Amino acid sequence: MSIQAEKTSSSSGREPAGVLNQDAVIRLERIHKTYHMGDIEVHALRGVSLEINRGEFVAIMGPSGSGKSTMMNIIGCLDHPTKGQYFLENSDVSQVDKAGLADIRNQSIGFVFQSFNLVPRTSALENVELPLVYAGVPAAERTRRAGAALAEVGLAGRERNMPNQLSGGQQQRVALARALVNNPSLILADEPTGALDTRTSVEVMEIFQRLNRDRSLTIILVTHEPDIAQYADRIIQFRDGRIRRDSPVENRKDATQVLTQLPAETEDDEEEVL
Ligand SMILES: Nc1ncnc2c1ncn2[C@@H]1O[C@H](COP(=O)(O)OP(=O)(O)O)[C@@H](O)[C@H]1O
Ligand SMILES: [Mg+2]
Repeated sequence: MSIQAEKTSSSSGREPAGVLNQDAVIRLERIHKTYHMGDIEVHALRGVSLEINRGEFVAIMGPSGSGKSTMMNIIGCLDHPTKGQYFLENSDVSQVDKAGLADIRNQSIGFVFQSFNLVPRTSALENVELPLVYAGVPAAERTRRAGAALAEVGLAGRERNMPNQLSGGQQQRVALARALVNNPSLILADEPTGALDTRTSVEVMEIFQRLNRDRSLTIILVTHEPDIAQYADRIIQFRDGRIRRDSPVENRKDATQVLTQLPAETEDDEEEVL
């Protein structure tokens, strides 16, 4: 709550109870998630309340098993909470059925994962076109929009490459283009730089920062790396299924600037198979 209070117009820095923060794209209210494994109950989330405003860039940190991915799955409409309410753009997602959740995902949310999750033996362009196929977009428009998304992540000219003909950083950029192609308002990224070397990670963060700035995209990014979290403007720390800390980033890092200071790529990095 501390950050929202600062960002709202209320001069006291606090909102009266019951008044909705109209800027919030995401509002979680006392969310619980309990998994049942035979006789054992796993309390993955234990009452998480959280607001994220449009255009915020939030990093989620915390030890393994602390509930980060569980929360991302709920925010991403991939899973329902056991208890509590979730409002996405002011509508109560806790009440929406499976088909409805799939529609929300397709229209509003782009996903990026640590392992890229590209379809093998399928070109970069076709990978990016996939969400448009599901959305029923005609072929010519699909090609045009997928090409534009690839260009936006710096991969113009790589449309025909197969995933195994691209470096890790390039594959992650294809995944990012695929996440963007439907024009989502929210990007969810679960450890997107977990499999990348330092320079490539900063290059990917540069794209996230640009999208956040230029398109006012809301970005929620899980990371283990304190360095990577410094590119966000707010860090939420999880522990044992609860939010332990929620604070703004002081001296936020600028990826474009950091890249100018990093040593140039060696020949082993970003190897291209062409
Ligand atoms: N599908 C599942 N079934 C049972 N337990 C799960 C499932 N997913 C996650 N968990 C458990 O919930 C807890 C939180 O997991 P997770 O959200 O993946 O943590 P993190 O992403 O922070 O590493 C862990 O104890 C994990 O083992
Ligand atoms: Mg996880």
